[in-house]
Amino acid sequence: MLLKTIEIEPMENINWGTLPFGYLKTDFNVRTVYKNGQWSKLEVSDSEFMPVHISATGLHYGQEAFEGMKAYMGKDGKVRIFRWIENAKRMQRSAKGTFMAEVPDELFHEAVVKAVKLNKRFIPPYGTGAALYIRPLLFGSGGEIGVKPSSEYTFIVFVSPVGPYFKEGFNPVKIAIVRDSDRAAPQGTGTLKVGGNYAASLRGIAKAHDLGCSSPLYLDSKEKKYIDEIGAANFFAIKDNTYITSKSESILPSITNMSLIDLANDIGLKTIRRPIDINELETFEEVGACGTAAIITPIGEIKDPDNNKSYNYCKNGKPGPVSLKLYETLVGIQYGEVADKYNWTEVIEFE
Ligand code: PLP
Ligand code: COI
Repeated sequence: MLLKTIEIEPMENINWGTLPFGYLKTDFNVRTVYKNGQWSKLEVSDSEFMPVHISATGLHYGQEAFEGMKAYMGKDGKVRIFRWIENAKRMQRSAKGTFMAEVPDELFHEAVVKAVKLNKRFIPPYGTGAALYIRPLLFGSGGEIGVKPSSEYTFIVFVSPVGPYFKEGFNPVKIAIVRDSDRAAPQGTGTLKVGGNYAASLRGIAKAHDLGCSSPLYLDSKEKKYIDEIGAANFFAIKDNTYITSKSESILPSITNMSLIDLANDIGLKTIRRPIDINELETFEEVGACGTAAIITPIGEIKDPDNNKSYNYCKNGKPGPVSLKLYETLVGIQYGEVADKYNWTEVIEFE
């Protein structure tokens, strides 16, 4: 495909150290369409827009899934991506769960690597706390009016340099227990990374913000007894030398959380995934949110507005020692400073 001259973002206008978690236009994105049982060759586009059929199932019936990954610029000048295969697999599960065509591993990988390479100048420098966020997106792009799977799908990967999801960075945040809205139901789509869950979460987010908090803490939607997750991140707690994280049928299986379980084991913690009763909150030594965007975010306070209560952690205003150790190890692997014994990272080769 012939590329026309592109509009160049003046790089000197980008203050890498204060980047929010937001969208910034980059140079290129990559796209492919599934029709008649096969994916087309990847195309490179310099447009932020695309024509979409007015009756696309992705628009009407939420036949849509996305992923979130990052590319990290190391101190050694190498660019790494983290556990991409897990994102590819999760997107395949999301596709299966919403009856969409699956993106094969190789195509997913090719698209992600290409999108990173084509936007190299947007990869935030080492030491700024920012990274290049990678957003793979899959949706039903064929027109239908009945509620049924589309016959055509579009897969796009675009990128955007971002700072930390929580503006506090690696500093304690406040969250609020929300009981009057649910992001997902136990046998619904909560374990899939589909857009509808995020639309459903907007009410909880608005409520948390009204309470002066960064994010909602969702409870299981059936009994409102157990901890589900924190906005767009999984929940973990530390108690008695144990890393505890929620087991639930309605949360997203976080790749960061999965990695932290291994890292916690490595530093001698016991690890357990189990239902976490809300009444346990007062017994935890440390509490945190984890995810690609959230990285590890320590929780300083959990407000329970319905019971006029609040739980406090990080009493000295600083992250707890276990969260700190896990953070340093995880981020160290992602930026190539800590040995990657599990081979989680892939170095992107730039010619
Ligand atoms: N939970 C939700 C609802 C999310 O949106 C995310 C972000 O992807 C996570 C948890 C964390 O998952 P991961 O660590 O794979 O980014
Ligand atoms: C991520 O952590 O990658 C996410 O997808 C969070 C996003 C919904 C903001």
